[in-house]
Amino acid sequence: MSNRSINIKLFEPVIEQEEIDSVIRVLKSGWLAQGPEVEMFEKEFAEYIGVRYSAAVSNGTVALMLALKALGIGQGDEVLVPDYTFIATATAPLMVGAIPKFVDVDVNTFNIDIEDLKNKISDRTKAVIVVHLFGHPANIKAVKEVIGDKNIMLIEDAAQAHGAEAWGQKVGSFGDAAIFSFYATKNITTGEGGMVVSDKKEVIEKVKLLRNHGQISRYIHAELGGNYRMTSIQAAIGRAQLRKLDRLNEIRRDNAQLLSAIITSINAQYGNVIELPVEEPWARHVYHLYAIKLKDKTLRDYLYECMNSNGVEVAINYPLPLHSQPLFKSLGYKDCCPTSSNLALRELSLPVHPKLSRNDINTISMVLSKCIDNYIHFTSIT
Ligand SMILES: Cc1ncc(COP(=O)(O)O)c(C=O)c1O
Repeated sequence: MSNRSINIKLFEPVIEQEEIDSVIRVLKSGWLAQGPEVEMFEKEFAEYIGVRYSAAVSNGTVALMLALKALGIGQGDEVLVPDYTFIATATAPLMVGAIPKFVDVDVNTFNIDIEDLKNKISDRTKAVIVVHLFGHPANIKAVKEVIGDKNIMLIEDAAQAHGAEAWGQKVGSFGDAAIFSFYATKNITTGEGGMVVSDKKEVIEKVKLLRNHGQISRYIHAELGGNYRMTSIQAAIGRAQLRKLDRLNEIRRDNAQLLSAIITSINAQYGNVIELPVEEPWARHVYHLYAIKLKDKTLRDYLYECMNSNGVEVAINYPLPLHSQPLFKSLGYKDCCPTSSNLALRELSLPVHPKLSRNDINTISMVLSKCIDNYIHFTSIT
């Protein structure tokens, strides 16, 4: 195989005439900053998720920070966080003065491990953040059972899981609050953007206060907030994206099925070298990423190099468990989570986005099996 530039990308936003028309409409209206368009996006998004209230903000990281603050989490509070996720899940607690404590993850779904949650939960725990990683719901029912009637806030980080369901109910509707990200790679996007959702009116009112400098009436400020607002331009794109979310997720699921069929035949030929993504029977996965697991780091790193240099963009999500990030090492965090550490050596994300054609999927298949073949040939002669 020859070296050439990437021609199948890992992510591609789906921007159609509807988004373009919506942006033009807002630009012509003259109301560019937060306004009625943002309110409409909030209302429609809350309806879609099945919650009563929502607040749009500038990004998912801010959404998490403000959700924590609005739930009363702050200085010195212990927040349980899965060890395997994007850094923002753990830095948001730090940003509000809280102390993240890492919980190991389930080897099948990459999501919070219930047994380790039972071990880590304590009298000091003030909140648990579950992440619906890669678009697969966390076992939220079991998490709720572990929390029981303790006074512990449950926050869902659904940054990667718009439209995912657990037991037929949308993620984002289970916790005391949930957050979403609309970053450019997400299942729906506003370029940058975020949303906090909750059934608790006071939580969303607090988020709305904090996102706008704690302003209670014009130039009267009751508490320390900031400018964390979403623009009307972003909201208009978001509304158009929301209308196509179910269609885009269906395409992601179809693509995932095609990839799984291809990998099953590669496994039949080469002896189960690749572990497929898992979908629990109670879950509806929305495949933000199609995350496979390889038997070890050598094969994973080989495939990473081989596929990227043969035109198929793949990524490692994530190369380090959070407790091993330089940031957390410098804060004195020690080894905590063997499964998470192991997954970081074996995970590889393949393209699954809705803009892939059948041809693209055939190319991914061809490149993947060629890379596996090269690897097996290479290791058998060395
Ligand atoms: C799991 C998770 N949480 C939080 C975030 C933060 O969202 P944003 O990038 O919009 O700040 C992301 C974004 O990548 C994420 O994947």
